[in-house]
Amino acid sequence: MIEVQPSGAALGADIIGADLSKPLSSEDFGAIHRAWMTHLVLRFRGQNLTDEHLMAFSRNFGALDGNPRHAQVEGRSPAAASGFVNIISNVVENGKSIGGLGNYEAKWHSDMSYNPIPPMASALYALEIPPEGGDTSFANMYTAYETLPDDIQTRVRALNCVHDSSLNSVGQLRVGFEDVTDPRKTPGALHPIVRTHPATGRLCLFLGRRRNAYIPGLDLADSEALLDTLWHHATQPEHCWTQQWTLGDLVLWDNRAALHRRDEFDGTARRVMHRTQISGDRPF
Ligand code: SIN
Repeated sequence: MIEVQPSGAALGADIIGADLSKPLSSEDFGAIHRAWMTHLVLRFRGQNLTDEHLMAFSRNFGALDGNPRHAQVEGRSPAAASGFVNIISNVVENGKSIGGLGNYEAKWHSDMSYNPIPPMASALYALEIPPEGGDTSFANMYTAYETLPDDIQTRVRALNCVHDSSLNSVGQLRVGFEDVTDPRKTPGALHPIVRTHPATGRLCLFLGRRRNAYIPGLDLADSEALLDTLWHHATQPEHCWTQQWTLGDLVLWDNRAALHRRDEFDGTARRVMHRTQISGDRPF
């Protein structure tokens, strides 16, 4: 039987006793799913996984989503070629990046929220990690919403926001896009700022990404001011927990109700992570 050890922070828990290279019993999967709905981010330490294991584990939760649009992978490995395992890495081999995001800071975001139907979850598995840096932080968007003042809760429940598709989380322009100079013209999906979690029924903020975001119906200055207020509030330390990676960690997060960001790290060190995305629903 597996054991759940909460981080003690606003989100995050360790799952002890699960070997994700083997099929999960329905009892263990049920316990993992309940823990996930409660803690939003689950960490499974000491795993030894192939890409097939990673995909099989992820499929317990639903169908896999394809890799992000224009994922920056020049030298396509078998994992990347599957279309479902996204390599996140700064490693360059034979002059070509093996993955995306380099060694840069990745700003707060939810994965692929620029799509009309963003993934429900992502699972990130650590194959190589730098001696320091590259930590990944998560923020709980239930508590972020629930602790907003009543008047702001009421206001944002009636508003939508455009989630920028032109830049990735480290600020690189995606292939085929132009620099956004006016957020009112930002390309990307329009989502409710407050969404209902389809499994728990709870309300949470769904902010996606700050850069180039825009709230249609508001003046640009009002949109910027409200977004700044929401983002400042949502990423306060009391809503957050940080994952310091060890080799073999697999971290699964609820992309509907948690934001994440990553610290930069020394570009001469190697960091290789493989990520799956699990398909979700249209936010409502
Ligand atoms: C991501 O945004 O999925 C990357 C997180 C990380 O590299 O830790």
